[in-house]
Amino acid sequence: MNSQNTWIITGPTSGIGRRTALELAAHGTVVLVGRDPAKLAVVEQQIEASGGRAVPVVADFSDLGSVRRAAAEIMALGLPIAGVLNNAGVFPLERRTTPQGWDLTYATNHLGPFAFTEALMPQLPDGANVVFVCSGVEDPERRPAVVAGFRGARFLSVEASVRGEWKPGGSTRPGFDAYATSKQGNLATVLAFARQTPRLRFNAVEPGFSPGSGLGRDAGPVVAFVSKYVLSPLAPMIKYWSTPKRAARVITEVLTADSDVSGVYYDERGKPMQGSVQVGDPEFCARVVAETRALLAAADRDGSVDVEGLEQHRE
Ligand SMILES: NC(=O)c1ccc[n+]([C@@H]2O[C@H](COP(=O)([O-])OP(=O)(O)OC[C@H]3O[C@@H](n4cnc5c(N)ncnc54)[C@H](OP(=O)(O)O)[C@@H]3O)[C@@H](O)[C@H]2O)c1
Repeated sequence: MNSQNTWIITGPTSGIGRRTALELAAHGTVVLVGRDPAKLAVVEQQIEASGGRAVPVVADFSDLGSVRRAAAEIMALGLPIAGVLNNAGVFPLERRTTPQGWDLTYATNHLGPFAFTEALMPQLPDGANVVFVCSGVEDPERRPAVVAGFRGARFLSVEASVRGEWKPGGSTRPGFDAYATSKQGNLATVLAFARQTPRLRFNAVEPGFSPGSGLGRDAGPVVAFVSKYVLSPLAPMIKYWSTPKRAARVITEVLTADSDVSGVYYDERGKPMQGSVQVGDPEFCARVVAETRALLAAADRDGSVDVEGLEQHRE
């Protein structure tokens, strides 16, 4: 592997992303994109203490302006980018909104990474690999997710998702429909981009359920303790489960692989897997991408978008 390569990773300050950033440091320079400068500095120091090179860039993925500024800052570095890992994500267990009233989960997990990727794409060299960390909970047929209370993605439209509206018949647990729908947005994006932009590579990884990461932090300190010290050590023995360390190895392998493969969705062991019936339909994936582009374009025109009035705004 060329140690001159640069790898961009979002959400490198916790869980799967932190472990992956440390792994990626063995493959070249790592651009660490996160919202907390102090946490970024800790990971940067850790990488540099082991002889690696890291460049911190601050971005809040729930804020499109911040995402765009970060992409511009990265491009100005002029580094030879070999791959981008869209890993940052949230899973709030209650409805939260951004300052402009958008669903926080959908904005952070889908809109931000989408805008970030599209801003970087023109500067990426041919063959660069863009990987999204997805989740099997988007699939209503995925048994372990259903047992955990998910009912798959509940997509009505991108505008409805931004408003926090989901297809009826969803989960009884707050936050689950928003999370599953946002992660379906990631997978649809990968599959559509792979078809639309063959000069680049787009792939997805379902990292496995990692109870040892910080994703379930809303569940409180007792659940966090049990997850980290009781469930996480059991994870290697349970199908569909993983640990941040194992997930990081699989993701690093997919991201740095010297191959032409594009449009593949990998499971927690690095084997190709299928997503939901919906994402298996190229028209559905193209629709998610087209609606997301339209919403972001309207947001760019206005500086921010009143999603209640978006349809009128287009007229
Ligand atoms: N853990 C699982 O079981 C599991 C399963 C399937 C998929 N995933 C996916 O794996 C990815 C990583 O999750 P994880 O489990 O490692 O969770 P985590 O430990 O909570 O890490 C999430 C990372 O995203 C960052 N982040 C959150 N909101 C952000 C924002 N607004 N702007 C910028 N960065 C932000 C966090 O930054 P801070 O450190 O500042 O909070 C952190 O670095 C996510 O995309 C998640 O959906 C996880």
